Amino acid sequence: MKNDILLKAAAGAKVDRPAVWLMRQAGRVLPGYRKLRESVKDFTQLVKTPELACEATLEPVHTLGVDAAIIFSDILVVPEAMGLPYRMIENKGPWFENTIDSAKDIDNLKDGTGADWDYVLKAIRLVKKELNDQVPLIGFAGSPFTIFAYITEGTGSKTFSVAKRMLFSEPAMAHRLLQKITRTTIEYLKNQVREGADIIQIFDSWGGVLGYDTYNEFSLQYIAAICDELNKLVPVIVFPKGAFFAGAELNKLNCRAVSLDWTVNPEEARRVLKGKTLQGNLDPCMLYAGKKAITDAVNRMCDRFGKQSYIANLGHGLYPDTPADNVKYFVDAVKEYSR
Ligand code: CP3
Repeated sequence: MKNDILLKAAAGAKVDRPAVWLMRQAGRVLPGYRKLRESVKDFTQLVKTPELACEATLEPVHTLGVDAAIIFSDILVVPEAMGLPYRMIENKGPWFENTIDSAKDIDNLKDGTGADWDYVLKAIRLVKKELNDQVPLIGFAGSPFTIFAYITEGTGSKTFSVAKRMLFSEPAMAHRLLQKITRTTIEYLKNQVREGADIIQIFDSWGGVLGYDTYNEFSLQYIAAICDELNKLVPVIVFPKGAFFAGAELNKLNCRAVSLDWTVNPEEARRVLKGKTLQGNLDPCMLYAGKKAITDAVNRMCDRFGKQSYIANLGHGLYPDTPADNVKYFVDAVKEYSR
């Protein structure tokens, strides 16, 4: 690997500067992606056409100079593989025609297999060939609870009260569904690693809507099961958005790195997550500010985390209206950080 600083940082090996990439760097703000997106009927066509997914994956490596590529895809590949197709509605987000609300619905879900996500595996093969070991490739999946939330609600939600209703009123049923999602997710991630993903990130985007005990029971337990299977193959990064309240339990996960949202205090995170590499955690809205403000914020963030065992990133994905130049300032500021 020509640039393996991300893998070194994940392993806790000594580096000269922090590693850097951005959640949602593929797609969203770059001009090449915008053009690709206009050339197809919808988002899923991009995801399901390996040549186009490959192009979207590589663009940020070439134009931003980040230390890793992340495969252009979506966390919703998993529920689709289990028999629940989705549509991505313009300016609104995901939408499932069929949702899960009974034991029978759960029985009807199948275990996803390689054939169901063949288009992702093909895209990974193309990307690995094109990357030619310039930088590592990040594979990913949603956490079981985050997928559970989408397929019970059928779409995004402010409260996730439909999803939480099942947790509280039918806990055994909820666990059965979470187990089924976990099984397919492990198979999916193992397939990504087999095709060349060098490191894996698990996005727990919605676990933070749960309380402390509920989080441990319905989200963390299943993330732990994935980590136990995957972290022996490649390093695993867990992104528990809004759930740093479970810090002591997160520290026990069999993962190499924890990605933090912007609400987390770096010094506190270092105290609680001993031995983990930390990733994050600039507020994505900071990228609306000017060049000097971004550079100052990056320097302060790197000072506080320290450059060892650290991967500079945002505290959540890039917002679509972020100026592309500012994204580049962010990456450059990290690469120039030398304290
Ligand atoms: O990080 C990357 O650049 C890789 C690609 C990637 C996408 N989605 C592409 C995408 C990744 C890692 C994801 C993960 C994802 N998808 C998450 C977890 C991360 C997070 O943001 O919390 C979630 C919750 C989803 C589900 C999803 N996909 C939503 C809610 C939406 C609509 C709103 C939005 O975020 O844009 C999507 C669509 C989506 N996924 C787009 C992209 C580039 C935008 C679609 C478009 O271009 O029309």
